[in-house]
Amino acid sequence: MDHLTVVTHPLVQHKLSLMRDKGTPTAVFRQLLREISQLLAYEVTRDLPMTTRAIETPMQAMDAPVLAGRKMALVSILRAGNGLLDGILELVPSARVGFVGLYRDEATLEPVQYYFKVPDQLDERLVIAVDPMLATGNSSAAAIDLLKAKGATDIRFLCLLAAPEGIARMKAAHPDVPIVTAAVDERLNESGYIVPGLGDAGDRMFGTK
Ligand code: URA
Repeated sequence: MDHLTVVTHPLVQHKLSLMRDKGTPTAVFRQLLREISQLLAYEVTRDLPMTTRAIETPMQAMDAPVLAGRKMALVSILRAGNGLLDGILELVPSARVGFVGLYRDEATLEPVQYYFKVPDQLDERLVIAVDPMLATGNSSAAAIDLLKAKGATDIRFLCLLAAPEGIARMKAAHPDVPIVTAAVDERLNESGYIVPGLGDAGDRMFGTK
């Protein structure tokens, strides 16, 4: 895969614009995120290995294409990553699920780990890390560091929106991790928010402030 894939499909772009609108209610925002997560998952799994299985249709026998059974792990970067999980799990119900919790130390501005629980055999799995917003890239890069320390070697990063700064940070830290996103926005503001963006994804998703 290329290091960066921007999914420009009209359905994705339309739904993303609805999500950006500050008037979009929480429940609708969550539903749109779930729908987009499935469209992005389609792209991030595009090159999954295939094999064939001998089956019989009502008409005749055939060798039908099926997934080769590659083990997969979805890893949500808390808390906003959870908004992408359910939709992807509907498409790939056999995937195992992990969680990485990081907060930003306000003194050092460095990510600090507060939770880490991932499936075993990460070295044998395709690992898809999910977080709607790739902003500074600091917590995403730190999450990928933790996954690699647990043995993951085949990792992809799926997000809804990315800032150029976050993409550059990820490319420098993890050039082997392809990023799939619905859009690359203009920049980060002084508070580290993506503009034009959609605000705080966790707050929009859960109705908090
Ligand atoms: N996290 C968010 O939720 N929104 C941003 O714009 C940046 C980081």
